[in-house]
Amino acid sequence: MGGAARCYTASPEETLSGPLRPVIAEQGALTRGLVAIGCVEDAPPPLGGLSPELARLAGQVVESRGWTGKTERQLTVSAGDGAVTVVLYGLGPSRELEHPRVKRWLDRVAGDCAAAEAPELLVVPPVHRVLGTPAGAATLLRQVALLGYAFDEYRKPSRPALRRVRVLPPVRGEGVYRGARKTAAAVARGITLARDLANTPGNRATPAWIAGRARALARRIGARAQVHGPRELARLRMAALLAVGRGSANTPRLVRLEIGTHGPAVALVGKGVTFDSGGISLKPGPAMDEMKYDKAGACAVLGAVQAVAELGLPVRLRAYLPLAENMPGGRAFRPGDVVTTRSGKTVEVLNTDAEGRLILADALTLAVEEGPEALVELSTLTGATVVALGHHGAALYSPDDGLARTLLRAAEDGGERLWRMPLWPEFREEIEGRHADLRNLGGKWGGANTAAAFLAEFMEGCESWAHLDVAGTAWHPGEPGPLFGATGFGVATIVNWLLATLDAG
Ligand code: BES
Ligand code: MN
Ligand code: ZN
Repeated sequence: MGGAARCYTASPEETLSGPLRPVIAEQGALTRGLVAIGCVEDAPPPLGGLSPELARLAGQVVESRGWTGKTERQLTVSAGDGAVTVVLYGLGPSRELEHPRVKRWLDRVAGDCAAAEAPELLVVPPVHRVLGTPAGAATLLRQVALLGYAFDEYRKPSRPALRRVRVLPPVRGEGVYRGARKTAAAVARGITLARDLANTPGNRATPAWIAGRARALARRIGARAQVHGPRELARLRMAALLAVGRGSANTPRLVRLEIGTHGPAVALVGKGVTFDSGGISLKPGPAMDEMKYDKAGACAVLGAVQAVAELGLPVRLRAYLPLAENMPGGRAFRPGDVVTTRSGKTVEVLNTDAEGRLILADALTLAVEEGPEALVELSTLTGATVVALGHHGAALYSPDDGLARTLLRAAEDGGERLWRMPLWPEFREEIEGRHADLRNLGGKWGGANTAAAFLAEFMEGCESWAHLDVAGTAWHPGEPGPLFGATGFGVATIVNWLLATLDAG
């Protein structure tokens, strides 16, 4: 089996730091570590690419143990001197196989690698429709490349490093997999940037620090960067962004990045609250530390910008990041305050913890003024989104069915889930102001929807916009482990969406 046609070896300059380079495997190349074979129930295990001895051994075990490939089943075959462990993983029936299940499998594989202290990993995906397309292959390769990710900036390395990961393409899939490597690597690096930034705690990741990282990114990719501090924000009449940042010694910033001179004009906007204490409407103590991730939208935008630049996509891309720290204090804004946003609309602040929509209001106004053909905004905006969708998907709001469809598809192909939510006029009624044009708080129920209705007020004049509430998907809460921390959710969807848009145009 195998032969020259399926062999591909990476040259040394293709090896990267950061995410592991997704390398297409040479047949029988693994000499130590773990071989993870994904098996669907209704097809024989994909043993074809293994070395003849391993394939024979695995085949025997499969026979004798009546292996079926049922979900969550696992079968270990130790080979020869024990340097290589082959593990078959059940992925269930093929008609049920989607990226989230593949991702769950890979996360389990990562855990098994860590437990076995395997230095190398060879992933053998099943032959399957979802994994056979260019986008599907890129998603799998990227997820494999990210299996070695850990945020060890502030601690000794948390687990023995996975030094090399490889993927054996499905039969007849080698061309597709080789072709998908570039996208996979760019998205993996974008996600790594987004995760590193979002994981950085509030005492370091202040608005000024994030702005500095954005500037550094711009220098690296040849983008134009503008960073506006408090004085310029006042000149820009961004009173809502200033109000949110007023209680903190770490003053707010607005970052604007611009790259590309040809192609569709696309605006990306990301919420960058570097820490959200709730302000005067202080949050309760439990899990408040997680509010360091409240800048994840802005971080995902930076990751996407990096990936787009690396792939050289022909778009005129502009990114807008409102950055502020929401803190209580003697100078903090307060419930009852009225602020005049850049748009001219006044907002009655009924809860200082509904701060994301305030800083976004000013940034969205600026973005829309510059006349983008499409605008996509990402924010960890509401706890209500987590109530609705849990941690399994992000909420999508858009008045444009075409854009919504493309985004849903882009997300699905990229292994990220979006679920479309309503922009009903009743939610707009709930945020009608009393002493101002608007209030920043709706009624008790449907909080994600009233927040979206609020944002919509600042995108008038833009026909094609989408708001992604990533509150439930931007990080994994809980205890340390391979999954803990920021996810970089949104980077893959944005890149896939742009790729699809450029393909169609
Ligand atoms: N950053 C939070 C939203 C959030 C909460 C994201 C929990 C992820 C997990 C946002 O600024 C916020 O505090 N929203 C309030 C809005 C409310 C005061 C209308 C919320 O969701 O409770
Ligand atoms: Mn808040
Ligand atoms: Zn917030």
